[in-house]
Amino acid sequence: MINIIRKKRDGGKLSRQDIERFVAGIVDGTIPDYQASALLMAIYFSGLDKEEAFLLTDAMKRSGDVADLSAINGIKVDKHSTGGVGDSTTMVVGPLCAANGVPVAKMSGRGLGFTGGTIDKLESIPGFKTTLSSEEFKNIVNTVGLSVIGQSEHIAAADKKLYALRDVTATIENIGLITSSIMSKKLASGSDAIVLDVKFGSGAFMKTKEDARELAEWMVEIGKMSGKKTAAFITDMTEPLGNNVGNTLEVIGAIEVLKGKGAERLRELSINLAGYMIFAGGKASDFEEGKAMAKKSIEDGSGLAKFREFVAAQGGNPEVTEDYSLFPQAKQNRELSIKKAGYVTSINAEEVGRAAQLAGAGRAKKEDSIDPAAGIVLHKKVGDYVESGEPLATIYADTDLQMSQALIAMMGAFNIEEAAPEETALVLDVIGE
Ligand code: URA
Repeated sequence: MINIIRKKRDGGKLSRQDIERFVAGIVDGTIPDYQASALLMAIYFSGLDKEEAFLLTDAMKRSGDVADLSAINGIKVDKHSTGGVGDSTTMVVGPLCAANGVPVAKMSGRGLGFTGGTIDKLESIPGFKTTLSSEEFKNIVNTVGLSVIGQSEHIAAADKKLYALRDVTATIENIGLITSSIMSKKLASGSDAIVLDVKFGSGAFMKTKEDARELAEWMVEIGKMSGKKTAAFITDMTEPLGNNVGNTLEVIGAIEVLKGKGAERLRELSINLAGYMIFAGGKASDFEEGKAMAKKSIEDGSGLAKFREFVAAQGGNPEVTEDYSLFPQAKQNRELSIKKAGYVTSINAEEVGRAAQLAGAGRAKKEDSIDPAAGIVLHKKVGDYVESGEPLATIYADTDLQMSQALIAMMGAFNIEEAAPEETALVLDVIGE
């Protein structure tokens, strides 16, 4: 390990053998944290090239379980978002793909900090199970076309340990390490093609367009080097994607889009991602046709019907789509308004995410419990005109303390000015095939 650390410290290139030794030692515990941390810091300063990043990704992928989805018919397409606020696209995109014959076998995570996780959201549906046996998971994908389960503890075991070390040694922000961390988990999840949604802005992991583009390019490259069809969307997360932020609220937001209503930006991104997945899954001849098919599945109700089938297959009550009172309900709700008229020029997504977290919807630490009913509903989005005192948002919480903390956090989230803001694109670019 001393030689490996020295090599990287001095700007050298790690060999396959070095990387295999490092990952094996992380998993079996023979490399102490101080040496692993020293190597991570050396990588942070000296960087990894794409070949090293590929080798690290591959070794980390093999460090835990690798899902075998060969029992599922068709081209399996996975979607991964780098995390955002009010992003419930999986619950829209999954049914739209399944309705068009593209199987989606998805492993998702839980939320942490100001970003939500699909598993927490789905668990707000009464009865919904996110832990299934591998057989049940594959059977549901084969019969319904869509299943979503919690990511196994044993996927990319080395990443789990390394991510925890990076978190406490200020070595998260390195493009090679981020790429290998995300892609090792995606590649271990076993799908044939991967569509990535790399977000930029206040509510995203990558704060600038340039950083998001760089990450997208790296991930697409490593995906291709690993033999998987990979594409990446670069999308705006400067304001929350949907109007609803919080677990139950985001499921309702997704159902609304599947009904042809709901938030415009959530609908637009969902149609884009689903359209690309339908194309990557071989059911459309190009991206445009894929988008038209996704749109049609919203209009003819086949996406909503798939969502209900999926919910029922995983033990949930499908009637929630027709009766939102079946969801857990918050004890209190309060409207937020400001004594100022004008155009909403920005809504800080991170602050809205933090407000939802303070209302009870998110976790500060992994062990924290969450309140499925808590969160925020935005009544105004960027570009809307607001009269003085008109409601901007409604906050849902259980306790007075949660309500007042969320309200304070929300106060600073809206920017209102006299002049209307310029329109910005939601989908900046698509990188890859
Ligand atoms: N998300 C991950 O899973 N890994 C990283 O390194 C950064 C974000």
